[in-house]
Amino acid sequence: MKILILAAALAYGFCVPAAFSQALPGEQKAEQCMRCHSVDNAHGGPLLDGLPAGYLLQQFEAYKSGQRFGPIMQSQFNALAAQDLREIASYFASRPPARASTKTGVDPQAAQLGQTIAGDLKCAACHGQDYRGTHEVPRLAGQLRNYLVLAIARLQRDSSLHPPMAARGELIPPPSIEAVASYLASLEP
Ligand code: HEC
Ligand code: HEC
Repeated sequence: MKILILAAALAYGFCVPAAFSQALPGEQKAEQCMRCHSVDNAHGGPLLDGLPAGYLLQQFEAYKSGQRFGPIMQSQFNALAAQDLREIASYFASRPPARASTKTGVDPQAAQLGQTIAGDLKCAACHGQDYRGTHEVPRLAGQLRNYLVLAIARLQRDSSLHPPMAARGELIPPPSIEAVASYLASLEP
C-alpha cells in the first residue's frame, strides 16, 4: 500500500508542473541559443523573439545546408533533428518581440534619413506596417542595428536571398544602409 501511495505521489508530483507550466517543447532545446540570442546577449546575435516560425525554420535549414553562410550557426544546427528545429522555431515565434537591452544610441539624423530612404524603397510593402513583419516576412522594427547593416548588405550581395531587393537593379550604397538600419532599429518592435 505504501508503495502504491508513493508511486501515486511521484506520478502526481511529476505531472503537475508539466500540466500547469504550459512550456512549449522547444523551450528547453532553445536554451543553448540564448547565450547569443537573448535580448541582453553580448555576442551580437539578432533577436529572434516573435519572428514568424516559417521564416525561422527556413533560416535554420539554409544554415544547415550551407545555403546561408554561417559556420557558427551551422555547427549549432548539426546536432538537431528536424523535429527539434520545428519546436525551437515555434518557441521563438511564440515569444513577444522585445528590444535589445544592449541597444546602442541611434543618431536621430541618420534615423530620419533612413526613414525617407526606406519609404522611397517601399520596404514596408512586404515588411508590414511599421516594419513589424507579417505572417511570413520577418520583422525589422527594433532589430539590432549592427545586425541589420550586415543583413541588408548580405541580402544585396546575393540576389537569390532577397529577390525583391535585387530586382531593383541598383544597390543601396553603404551610408544609406547604415541610415536605414538606424531607422529600423529605432522603431518599437
Ligand atoms: C555563439 C553564438 C550563437 C549561438 C550559440 C547561436 N547563434 Fe544564431 N546567430 C548568431 C549570430 C552572430 C548570428 C548572425 C550571423 C548571420 O547573419 O549569419 C546568428 C543568426 C541566427 C539566425 C538568423 C536570424 C535572422 O533574422 O535571419 C537564426 C534564425 C539563428 N541564429 C538561430 C539560432 C538558434 C535556433 C540557435 C540555437 C540552436 C542559435 N542561433 C545559436 C550567433 C549564435
Ligand atoms: C517584395 C517583398 C519585400 C520587399 C519589398 C522587401 N523585403 Fe526584405 N524580405 C522579404 C522576405 C520574403 C524576406 C525573408 C527572406 C528569406 O527568406 O531569407 C526578407 C528579409 C529581409 C531581411 C532579413 C531579416 C533578418 O531578420 O535577417 C532584411 C534585413 C530585409 N528584408 C530588409 C529589407 C529592406 C531594407 C527593404 C527595402 C529596401 C526590403 N527588405 C524590402 C521581402 C521583402
